[in-house]
Amino acid sequence: MSDFLNAPEAASPAPHSPGAPVRHTRAKGEPRFPDGPKADPAGSHFERRIRSFQPRRSRVTAGQADALQRLWPKWGLDIDGQRVIDLAELFGNDRPVVLEIGFGMGEATAQMAAGDPDTNILAVDVHTPGQGNLLGLAERNGLSNVRVANGDAIILLREMLRPDALDGLRVYFPDPWPKKRHHKRRLIQPEFLTLAATRLRPGAIVHCATDWEPYAEQMLDVLTAHPDFENTRPDGGFSPRPAFRPLTRFEGQGLDKGHVVNDLLFRRVPHRTAEQDR
Ligand SMILES: C[S@@+](CC[C@H](N)C(=O)[O-])C[C@H]1O[C@@H](n2cnc3c(N)ncnc32)[C@H](O)[C@@H]1O
Repeated sequence: MSDFLNAPEAASPAPHSPGAPVRHTRAKGEPRFPDGPKADPAGSHFERRIRSFQPRRSRVTAGQADALQRLWPKWGLDIDGQRVIDLAELFGNDRPVVLEIGFGMGEATAQMAAGDPDTNILAVDVHTPGQGNLLGLAERNGLSNVRVANGDAIILLREMLRPDALDGLRVYFPDPWPKKRHHKRRLIQPEFLTLAATRLRPGAIVHCATDWEPYAEQMLDVLTAHPDFENTRPDGGFSPRPAFRPLTRFEGQGLDKGHVVNDLLFRRVPHRTAEQDR
């Protein structure tokens, strides 16, 4: 895959150039991006739940802000938890849809979308600069098969997607939460898999990758133990990185530190009958 999707916006942008951080002072209550993603689309302060992400103050470059304002109305989706989405309507076709949770800056997402135009990617993250970056990449590279969702993937899965809506799920380098007291924040847990399974068609692939070995072991344990998934590896272990998954930004940082990367590919098994559940 060419490097064009990885091109940085600018090395050292001059003030007011397209790559410069936006330093606009807002009046109280004024939205950060008038036509862009909402700061807290689901009003999440009303829901007490341990989250897998940490809210961060994020500097948005002028290029990202421009993409958020222009492209959000066309390709953005706020996860408000208030409606069920028709994915064929969202993408304008009924091709298979893969959900990617936590796309970060979106370079790998854009590369995968370019490499497989017949698959739609619904990419979700809470990270505003990344949302702007991915929208910009999609526009610059003529990608019509990416939609960017803003908010908590759990609410998207639980409230806004129909049963069997998805043909795949990708979770690349989820926050590892290495401290023991934070393990409960890790995304890949039995309850999460039970929810995801309800939205995945039989045969859909769940693809996870991590450079944090204890988390990789946890992923392997919980996926192997879960009745709705089976390992695509006959030996029951980790998979080699499939050719379609580019190196990601977090992966690069992990590799620089000498971390070992593990991929896991599990298949959603056919639905159990009521008979089998008894
Ligand atoms: C460590 S980064 C990895 C980013 C990218 N996949 C990569 O490999 O470069 C994890 C990302 O997942 C996002 N994230 C974590 N939990 C999430 C959730 N429940 N819903 C949406 N995004 C989430 C975080 O905001 C963060 O951007």
